[in-house]
Amino acid sequence: MKVIEVDSISFAYDGKQVLQDVSFQVSEGEFVALFGPNGGGKTTLFHLLMGFLKPQRGEIRLFNQKPKEARKELAWVPQNFHFDPYFPLSVEEVVLGGRMAPGKWRFSAEDRAAAMEALEQVSMESTSKAPFAELSGGQKQRILIARALASSPKLLLLDEPTANVDHAIEKTIYELLSRLKNQMTILMVTHNLNRAVEAVDRLLCVQTSVSEMAQEKVCEHFALGLYHSTEEKT
Ligand SMILES: Nc1ncnc2c1ncn2[C@@H]1O[C@H](COP(=O)(O)OP(=O)(O)O)[C@@H](O)[C@H]1O
Ligand SMILES: [Mg+2]
Repeated sequence: MKVIEVDSISFAYDGKQVLQDVSFQVSEGEFVALFGPNGGGKTTLFHLLMGFLKPQRGEIRLFNQKPKEARKELAWVPQNFHFDPYFPLSVEEVVLGGRMAPGKWRFSAEDRAAAMEALEQVSMESTSKAPFAELSGGQKQRILIARALASSPKLLLLDEPTANVDHAIEKTIYELLSRLKNQMTILMVTHNLNRAVEAVDRLLCVQTSVSEMAQEKVCEHFALGLYHSTEEKT
């Protein structure tokens, strides 16, 4: 089954073309890495997939529905999530946020159980009562992944989840995602192709257009020191 079907979409902000004639598909259970230069349109593509933005041309289907209709099936770990360090939320409260829905004002025992289970999935259950603000950057990132998992998504979108964490944490995040990929479809933006190529099923390069890159090609690029040339392409 196709989870994502992107058919010839184009998108511009106020006349500034960001994506042009983009088509790709993702099947159920795939773990896909998106990479490309800064400003290439990766985050914009996520915003389109979630239905926050609309393409000016072309069509996006998620689970054979319009993105907005499918939003309940997906969860998102945003890029650059900033949190006021003094905001007094516990880890459990942050994760419970993933169970929020319009018009819902209280959490049930089922919500709390789902939050706890999500914390267990990221091996952070012992921190449930701790202030979120006091965790390290890598721990916060894992909590934000737990928050996304708490809604039991069928599609998980992660925007540079390993950008500000050290190598050891990055490794645990990849291990976690590799385990999860049997349960859901995963799209992740990353710059670390070296690591991604070992873990993911497919690599998509986002740079105005979206093109598939063969895993062997990535290795070749690394061997030749070519990856950074894409960033200089005009
Ligand atoms: N809300 C916005 N309004 C106008 N331009 C934007 C907006 N968001 C992003 N852009 C521009 O669109 C391009 C793609 O950005 P983005 O999707 O964030 O790329 P990436 O995530 O690959 O770094 C960039 O040139 C960026 O400056
Ligand atoms: Mg981005």
